[in-house]
Amino acid sequence: MKIGNIIELEIVDFSHDGQGVGKSDSLAVFVEGALIGDVIKAEVTQLKKNFAVGKLVEIVKPSENRVEDYEAFAEYGGYSLVNYAYDAQLAYKTELIGKNLQRFAGVEVDVKPIVGMEDFKNYRNNIQLSVDGKTIGYKKKGTNEVVELEGILIEPVDTLNIINVLKKSKALKRIVTIGLRTNHAGENMLILVTKKSDKLDLSDVIEELSEYVSVIYQNVNANPRFHYGKEYIKIYGEDFYEELNGRKFLLSPTSFFQVNREQTEKIYDQVMSALDLKDTDNVLDLYCGVGTMSIIASEEANRVLGVEISKGAIEDAKSNAAINFVENARFKSGDAGIVMEKLPPRVKYNKVIMDPPRSGVDTRVIEALLELKPEKIAYVSCNPTTLARDIKLLLGEYKIESVQPYDMFPHTSHVEALTLLVRR
Ligand SMILES: C[S@@+](CC[C@H](N)C(=O)[O-])C[C@H]1O[C@@H](n2cnc3c(N)ncnc32)[C@H](O)[C@@H]1O
Repeated sequence: MKIGNIIELEIVDFSHDGQGVGKSDSLAVFVEGALIGDVIKAEVTQLKKNFAVGKLVEIVKPSENRVEDYEAFAEYGGYSLVNYAYDAQLAYKTELIGKNLQRFAGVEVDVKPIVGMEDFKNYRNNIQLSVDGKTIGYKKKGTNEVVELEGILIEPVDTLNIINVLKKSKALKRIVTIGLRTNHAGENMLILVTKKSDKLDLSDVIEELSEYVSVIYQNVNANPRFHYGKEYIKIYGEDFYEELNGRKFLLSPTSFFQVNREQTEKIYDQVMSALDLKDTDNVLDLYCGVGTMSIIASEEANRVLGVEISKGAIEDAKSNAAINFVENARFKSGDAGIVMEKLPPRVKYNKVIMDPPRSGVDTRVIEALLELKPEKIAYVSCNPTTLARDIKLLLGEYKIESVQPYDMFPHTSHVEALTLLVRR
């Protein structure tokens, strides 16, 4: 195989970011836009020791699961599986969890069929759009070219209305990224990113914008590698709230919040019932974000400690406990591994929730858990590879009671799963 060669490939898998993967000359070849079951021709564009990258030139035989319902969205990053039939996406994601557990943890697990969405329209409550001149949209897959967002599928309902108003403002030339967060009531928060900190003047559109938007922040970020910088300036509106599982949560522009409300409520309900909480239980909620699961768990449990690295999220978690009249939940900011090592022994935490970022759980957390010996661990994961890696380290002391995937991110290759581990 050489760069520039045209090769024929059958696509047999997806990479973690949704590229099609085939094999040629016993080398894995990654091809953007190719789907499992496609037979394609690709031009080799990169050749490394262990893999190659190809550019799709022709679909020789399309996958039986190739659909064209949302073809217009296929060129956007964040829509990697949109041309793959939704049922096939679900089956692929369920299988992926089982395969990873087998490959990286060495266990055969009967993974429950994934909980999909009946209606995935507008499921995202948080999006980021790029701005280039008057063009507002997503970056084209694998490039820096901004493509105009002309219709919406998974985005918040008001996305296009807000874009159209912003296009009328003179301030648009200073905006590089638009963040949009929405809540269940359809209220919107705008985060407008500028390179410099002088205050954005939205006076020419603020009246019209306020029909759709409740709060606006300006964020200052000169680093194109990240969507947001550290500095936020509120330029319009009041505090912004979201409801989940019957509780109210403050939504600040900085803190992590699950992007799919409908699926999150299902996962949170299942975490609580899997842990079978009692009023004698002390719960540790690791990687707690703004304290959502801590607050829900506090209703059944004796006490809860939420641990989270982001100081801002911990501030929000404390406000959230107050808003929900919760008195038995405490929050500690810090690295989960370090906080675990310093936990005072006087409280015996017998049930643990952990919901780490894609990088998974720190080995110090695993070691501390093996010492703490909680009865049950509910592990919510958004990365099947690190899930399997972490579970392997716990398998000596814990058995897998159940693995339930959820489709939190329809039309992308991302998979969420709740694994319940019970002490042997
Ligand atoms: C997937 S989010 C889960 C948040 C929360 N459980 C929820 O459901 O909204 C992961 C969280 O882990 C936090 N985090 C990342 N690294 C961490 C670390 N080393 N120690 C503690 N928290 C960390 C992030 O700030 C983020 O809020």
